[in-house]
Amino acid sequence: MFFREIEKDLRLALTVPQFAEPLFALTDQNREHLKVWLPWLDTVQEVGDTKMFIRDQLIRFAKEEALHLSVFNNNQIVGVVGFNQLDHVNGVGMIGYWLGEEYTGNGVMTKAVKEVIHIGFESWPLQKVEIHCAVDNTVSRAIPERLGFREEGTIRRTAKVNDKHQDHVIYGLLKEEYIFRK
Ligand SMILES: CC(C)(COP(=O)(O)OP(=O)(O)OC[C@H]1O[C@@H](n2cnc3c(N)ncnc32)[C@H](O)[C@@H]1OP(=O)(O)O)[C@@H](O)C(=O)NCCC(=O)NCCS
Repeated sequence: MFFREIEKDLRLALTVPQFAEPLFALTDQNREHLKVWLPWLDTVQEVGDTKMFIRDQLIRFAKEEALHLSVFNNNQIVGVVGFNQLDHVNGVGMIGYWLGEEYTGNGVMTKAVKEVIHIGFESWPLQKVEIHCAVDNTVSRAIPERLGFREEGTIRRTAKVNDKHQDHVIYGLLKEEYIFRK
């Protein structure tokens, strides 16, 4: 498979159908951890659901609408990251991510998001990258805050997750503010 190395033992790869089994297993093991913040867990019940999702994401990638990447740590899939949405009319990419619980707390996702921002600004003429986080999701909010995003405001009751309505904070990083190329 084709990998993009962030550092030794930390790599990104375009998510392809061959990853369906390990990605489904990671999802299945982390349902409780992820369910609090992500709305789609109940739609993934078997490996075929993950495979179908990956195919859809590859079609969206071919249409330049999205980029779904798998995060590999020590040759194991530990999470995902990418552009959930690429809006080429306005030059805006929206990043999303999750990690298996046992892999959190080590800076893996901060490094992965940094790499995705670089890909976004270098591979497409994006002008802005956004990250939307639930107001109470402090560990997720810490990522754009650590990477120098500006907090631009809060949109109220924009998602229903785990039977709770969430307000989301919008973080934005403009191309000219992007100064942390490794
Ligand atoms: C959001 C999520 C990916 C964050 O994971 P995380 O492990 O906290 O994020 P990182 O990998 O960037 O690690 C940051 C932690 O590593 C520590 N760290 C260690 N080395 C680090 C480094 N070189 N750079 C940055 N942080 C580092 C930080 O201090 C921080 O620890 P703390 O949480 O104890 O303060 C994870 O909690 C998750 O998957 N949550 C559920 C899904 C979710 O909420 N997705 C986002 C929806 S918007």
